This record gives sequence, C-alpha cells and structure tokens, in this order.
Amino acid sequence: MLILAHQSMLEVSNLHAGYGKVRVLFGLNFNVKGGEVHCLLGRNGAGKSTALKAIMGLVKTTTGSIKFEDSELTHLPAHDIPKQRIGLIPQGRRLFSELTVAENLRVGLMTSDTPERQEIRVFELFPRLQERLQQKAGTLSGGEQQMLAVARALCLEPKLLLLDEPTEGLQPTMVALITDAISQLKNDGVAILLVEQHVDTVISVADRVTFVDNGRTVASLKANEFEDNRDIFSTYLGV
Ligand SMILES: Nc1ncnc2c1ncn2[C@@H]1O[C@H](COP(=O)(O)OP(=O)(O)OP(=O)(O)O)[C@@H](O)[C@H]1O
Ligand SMILES: [Mg+2]
Repeated sequence: MLILAHQSMLEVSNLHAGYGKVRVLFGLNFNVKGGEVHCLLGRNGAGKSTALKAIMGLVKTTTGSIKFEDSELTHLPAHDIPKQRIGLIPQGRRLFSELTVAENLRVGLMTSDTPERQEIRVFELFPRLQERLQQKAGTLSGGEQQMLAVARALCLEPKLLLLDEPTEGLQPTMVALITDAISQLKNDGVAILLVEQHVDTVISVADRVTFVDNGRTVASLKANEFEDNRDIFSTYLGV
C-alpha cells in the first residue's frame, strides 16, 4: 500500500449531527492522516460514538463536512461508505454469535477483492482466531470476540478504520493484544480513529488526541504534548 503519511485522509469540519430532534454534535473538528492513530476522548455521552456513526452515514449530518481523500461523504448513502474502504468496529462488537469464527470471517471476506491476502493478514495479526475457527463466536472470550470484530473489519482492507472502545471490559493482556494489532495496522499505513477511555492505552498508542465535550472539539494534543498536559486528560475524562 502506498503510504501518504502526513497527508490528511479524513477531514471532519464543523460537524453538526444528531438523532431526529435530539442534537448531539455541535461543531466537531479533527482530521486523521494515513499511518496515524488519532484518539477521540471525552466523557460518557460526549458524542464520540455519534461522530463515528456520522462518518459511516448512519446518523444524519445537518451542518458541516466530512471529507475522505477529498470526496465529501455527507452526500453518500450509508451503504456506499464501506466501498470507500472505511471500516467501523462498533461499540459492543456486533458479531454473529451463532456463527462460527470461520463463518463470521467468511461474511467479511465476501466484501474483499483480495480475500486470500486478507485472510493471511488476519491470522498473522490474530493467530488465536485460527485456533478457534469452528467455535461459535458467542462462546469466545470478550477479548477473542473483539479480535474477531477487528478481523472482520480488516477483510475489506480499510484505508481508514474506526474503532469504538475496542478494549472496553477487557483484561490487561487482551488490551495489549488489541493495542498491538492497532500499532501494526498503523505501520501498514492505515489511518485509525480510535475511541478509547483508558488514558494509559491512549497515551501508549495515540499520535494525536482530540477531546470532545458536549458534542464539540474542545482541545487537541500531539503525542509529545501529552506529558505536560495530563490535567487536560483529567478535565475531560473525569479521572
Ligand atoms: N439512537 C439514539 N437516539 C437518541 N439519542 C441518542 C441515540 N444514540 C445516542 N443518543 C444520545 O446522544 C448522546 C451522545 O451519545 P454517544 O453514544 O455518541 O456518546 P459517547 O460519547 O459515545 O458515550 P460513551 O462514552 O458512553 O460511549 C447521548 O446523550 C445519547 O443518549
Ligand atoms: Mg460511545
């Protein structure tokens, strides 16, 4: 994959969005570059998941712009967004729990132009899944389910991956496996937008952080600014 690091892949400007009459986002601004992990941080209900859903066309943008590689996404229907090679791993995973690991992956690979290559890549990242191909997804541990959710999204060979709290409820060894996979994808040149509540995880993987409060961008920091600005993390996370 050709890596255009430092070039903005996703540009979100003055985004306003919500659910019918319920307005949630009131001016969100951030961008994500190829080969970068950009974290969205904010309290419960700040609008982080809504921002990811707006990018995927799953909630309506009322004002503002979402540009991906210079094309405007807000005009596209939701089913056209994955065709741009943007993948979402939603909060709470959403696997087919009655299907096996192999069957869940097969669903993902149906959308791929290069299924063999993607299958190899997925098992490189998560060898544990290969050992459990015939197990029903619903019986996997929480961490294994998260791996499968990430693996399924990777089948479409995304240029931009949106991850909504992938480490929620996982024990430290599983958190480490997931964050390690995120770092490897970043090294492949994938642009990663990560919603994450664990400050330590954020600090270990993020290149930049945008703080969201009441549906607005209130601050943003680069990795080399994290240490001197720990107070900003506590202000907007309540930790
Ligand atoms: N389908 C919906 N209909 C109406 N309101 C919704 C809907 N989904 C979310 N909301 C509201 O939008 C606001 C933002 O929710 P959102 O899920 O984006 O927050 P979040 O920052 O992801 O929070 P968390 O950290 O708890 O996941 C909340 O007040 C929530 O109740
Ligand atoms: Mg959320």
